[in-house]
Amino acid sequence: MQFSNFKEHDLSAIELIENEVHAYPWTRGNFLDSIKSSHTCLMMKLNEEIIGFSVMMFVLDECHLLNMSIKKSMQKKGHGSHFLKEMIQRARLAHSKTIYLEVRISNHAAIHLYDKYGFNEMSIRKDYYRAKEGREDAVLMGLVI
Ligand SMILES: CC(C)(COP(=O)(O)OP(=O)(O)OC[C@H]1O[C@@H](n2cnc3c(N)ncnc32)[C@H](O)[C@@H]1OP(=O)(O)O)[C@@H](O)C(=O)NCCC(=O)NCCS
Repeated sequence: MQFSNFKEHDLSAIELIENEVHAYPWTRGNFLDSIKSSHTCLMMKLNEEIIGFSVMMFVLDECHLLNMSIKKSMQKKGHGSHFLKEMIQRARLAHSKTIYLEVRISNHAAIHLYDKYGFNEMSIRKDYYRAKEGREDAVLMGLVI
């Protein structure tokens, strides 16, 4: 498994993953904003193929995990866990004290993953996300590292 920063020329492959795993995917503009803002835009490759990516924003001693996605056909094989461990390690190296993230309350797979690595539910952000019928709450989770 290889980890490296993704750049604008990787976005076609990144967007294919984003669009297949999210009902309300990030747009190319969202990814470009993150690259321009020097967020940590990481991709994970297996045999030269991009199988997942994440976007982390570092603010003072906080790390905000803005996006994390694993290609559908590669899910449930431990790649998400491997990737999250790598991100936690990078946040430690950047001297972050806490990692924060928001996740849809219905996203049991992601909540299970974050829970497994020690993230705690800190609060609920009411109606945070768009949803098929109206809005959906976000769970704010945090990990002290
Ligand atoms: C969340 C996500 C990153 C997990 O990636 P993954 O590669 O499937 O994760 P792993 O294989 O390492 O599995 C991690 C744990 O979650 C569990 N899990 C994975 N998919 C699951 C599902 N659909 N339902 C319930 N649990 C699930 C696994 O069983 C494993 O738990 P275990 O070790 O106790 O058995 C992946 O499902 C994904 O990309 N989802 C779409 C994007 C997304 O929701 N991102 C998070 C936004 S905050």
